[in-house]
Amino acid sequence: MKIDFRADPLAQLSTSALVAYCFEGAPTSSGTVERLAEETRHQLQELQTAGELTGKAFECTILRWPPGMAASKLLVIGAGKREKFSDTQLRYLAGAAVRHLRSRGGRELAWILGSSEPGAGAAVVDGALVADYDADRYRTERNGEKGIDNLWLATGGDPLPAEAEAGLHRGRILGEAQNFTRDLVNEPSNRMTPTKLAEQAGEMASRFGLGCEVLGPAEIQGLKMGALWAVAQGSQQEPAKLIVVRYVPEDAPQQPVIGLIGKGITFDSGGISIKPSENMHEMKTDMAGGATMLGVMQAIAQLKPCVRVTALIPATENMPSGNAFKPGDVITSMSGKTIEILNTDAEGRLVLADALTYAKQLGCTVLIDAATLTGAVLVALGNFTTGVFGWNQEWVDRVLAAGKVAGEKMWQLPVDEDYRDLYKSSIADLANTGGRYGGAITGAMFIGEFAGDTPWVHLDIAGTRWANDEKPYRAKGPTGHGVRTLVQLLTDLRL
Ligand code: BES
Ligand code: MN
Ligand code: ZN
Repeated sequence: MKIDFRADPLAQLSTSALVAYCFEGAPTSSGTVERLAEETRHQLQELQTAGELTGKAFECTILRWPPGMAASKLLVIGAGKREKFSDTQLRYLAGAAVRHLRSRGGRELAWILGSSEPGAGAAVVDGALVADYDADRYRTERNGEKGIDNLWLATGGDPLPAEAEAGLHRGRILGEAQNFTRDLVNEPSNRMTPTKLAEQAGEMASRFGLGCEVLGPAEIQGLKMGALWAVAQGSQQEPAKLIVVRYVPEDAPQQPVIGLIGKGITFDSGGISIKPSENMHEMKTDMAGGATMLGVMQAIAQLKPCVRVTALIPATENMPSGNAFKPGDVITSMSGKTIEILNTDAEGRLVLADALTYAKQLGCTVLIDAATLTGAVLVALGNFTTGVFGWNQEWVDRVLAAGKVAGEKMWQLPVDEDYRDLYKSSIADLANTGGRYGGAITGAMFIGEFAGDTPWVHLDIAGTRWANDEKPYRAKGPTGHGVRTLVQLLTDLRL
């Protein structure tokens, strides 16, 4: 998508689609509709009287040859209630415009910037990129190929605020990072193997100037990562990889080092505790946490916050086979803690346990993990909200605040000593499941046992990784949820 500013007076801007928005209740005299030519607004007035234009959220109204203007088409998009307007809503509006136009063959749009919206450029660019994405790579007839080629940010000749270029830059980086994550998550497990994920990480890293190191089976065993290895040994085809990506800005202090640990199960069959076949195909997305961290690394490599960040992605399949680990097995994790396996389908916490231990060994002083960890978090929060856990309230609060700004729904669930008894083992230090009730909490707390005293925040993205329905502003399928929040956290970090 080509993106640039256009300074033409709005009436003289020639484009195949000019886009303005308006608020509910005042569809001809609010938002950027106010900036349209008098004659055009007059025509909109008639539509309003006829009840065809209301300004309700995502309502799309098309005028061909808006009078007094050079554009061949005008799209007026409803912004909903003025009190509810936000940067997130602006992103969604731009997204809805993109999806509306491109589904009708549009290749270009000119978005009118409000005169008093300095931050609008970033939101519009970002929303447009995220909306221009479809998970249709494997369809012969692709929608995505028919995306928007040109996005103009129309200033109407207003002087550009100083931060305008930077806003466009940031919007593009965020949108592209989120889409990168979505692409990785969407790939089926026969294509997105641990090896392939490592390759993708390496390519991204060298393109954006990050360090990347990939440990294979021998190194994983050499480091005594018994928990990661237990999960990995069931796959006869695909060797496990531990992917490490480093962002080390020259001017950054030695500490903190933020460790971003992402679950990278490229397919979760459940192993010997095999899952029912219904919906098992969805388990190709069980590396969404890892994909999230790669998206974050891609973004910060370009936005260059002044803080050290190391991403770690334990990547493996979870498969049943003659080599697979079994219920009842006792394994020794890298930390030395022994774990009794009660269910081989609780594999995410195992691979994360060793990755957290290794992250600390590499010098990480703050640990944030993202994982499609539990079905239980879906029961608790559904598809739209990520579960947030951690003992260190300061860091939990930082993540929650970043989520607010970034426009991703996050909700804290408790961790509490009382739950610890649930994953006690009668023969080992820990058991890898805590039973049915409070499953998202015991799963999180199990991981937390390996963080020790290091500040740690866990994001359970099992519900939010995938959208079951299309929205006006984005396709159904992989969401890239979490990328924006963590990028916001890292770029805003003041310690
Ligand atoms: N990857 C799954 C969790 C999951 C479920 C992600 C649904 C996305 C959608 C995880 O490895 C898993 O199987 N968890 C088990 C844990 C249980 C055995 C303690 C679960 O949630 O059932
Ligand atoms: Mn599982
Ligand atoms: Zn899993």
